[in-house]
Amino acid sequence: MLEVKALRKNYGKIAAVDGISLRADSAQTIGLLGPNGAGKTTTVSMIAGLLPPDSGEVLIDGSPLRGDTDPVKRKIGLVPQNIALYDELTALANLNFLGALYGLSGAGLKRAIGEALDLVGLTDRAKDKVATFSGGMKRRLNLAAALLHDPQILLLDEPTVGVDPQSRNAIFDNLETLKKRGKTLVYTTHYMEEAERLCDRIIIIDHGKVIANDTLHGLHRMLPVTNLLAIELESPDHFKPEPLLALPEVESAEVKEGVLKVGLHNLTTGAPSILRWLAESGHSYQHVTSERPDLETVFLTLTGRTLRDS
Ligand SMILES: Nc1ncnc2c1ncn2[C@@H]1O[C@H](COP(=O)(O)OP(=O)(O)O)[C@@H](O)[C@H]1O
Ligand SMILES: [Mg+2]
Repeated sequence: MLEVKALRKNYGKIAAVDGISLRADSAQTIGLLGPNGAGKTTTVSMIAGLLPPDSGEVLIDGSPLRGDTDPVKRKIGLVPQNIALYDELTALANLNFLGALYGLSGAGLKRAIGEALDLVGLTDRAKDKVATFSGGMKRRLNLAAALLHDPQILLLDEPTVGVDPQSRNAIFDNLETLKKRGKTLVYTTHYMEEAERLCDRIIIIDHGKVIANDTLHGLHRMLPVTNLLAIELESPDHFKPEPLLALPEVESAEVKEGVLKVGLHNLTTGAPSILRWLAESGHSYQHVTSERPDLETVFLTLTGRTLRDS
């Protein structure tokens, strides 16, 4: 459906996008995850045909996208990072105007607007000025505007920034509906928990380069440990975790604030042997929980920095 080959874009000396390749099939949601300045917006702008790449290629359904006036562009919808709406116009007037830009008119435009407003749950606010909308409602109208020409590929550039949790959930529900209808979604975010929740495949970018491209499961496998077993020992004070390292499943073992934390890859085989070893060595415990490292840990492992602070 969408194939991006070795895209590059420099701004002066800055390589904003430095050889990014990716592909997305129909009904697939691809996450572009990276800190601010990673090159997400520049990438998405080139995929949308708004910004000419210095080199590289964007293929839509196998056809190359050539510039701003290419008809292939109609297969793409862009929900831009900065809300592109007129505050002084009503929601309906905004959609009429934006639909006309895509060459829609008459009954076709009316139907498209009705369906888009219905999907984002703003039908009853159609006649209100956008200036009266909350941040979340503006984001949802921004999404509706990108759907009018019924694109097969939807590019979403940080669509939940500045949105309350309720609107964020509403946007996620809308996106899940679109996914069920077979749309290809490219979802750009610097929030790892959004990428975890929504995306079939996550592409982590940093300094204009792809540093990982995998399923969530695959990304977790890159970590030194995929599971952390936390065991609250009854007498942690003189407990020596080192002998645990001799067990074949155990990757790491340490006591922190009275809790024994054991890193392992396979919980199914590892957890029973760890618990058995503790029981047989006379160490009682009160609580056992397991933690899964998140994408933040993946980013930290790959770059040595955190997503939030970089
Ligand atoms: N129009 C521009 N002129 C100069 N530098 C730019 C421009 N747009 C983006 N950049 C730079 O390119 C890099 C990538 O930016 P961007 O694609 O907006 O990242 P992201 O969307 O991941 O935050 C940043 O270093 C940014 O400062
Ligand atoms: Mg951006």
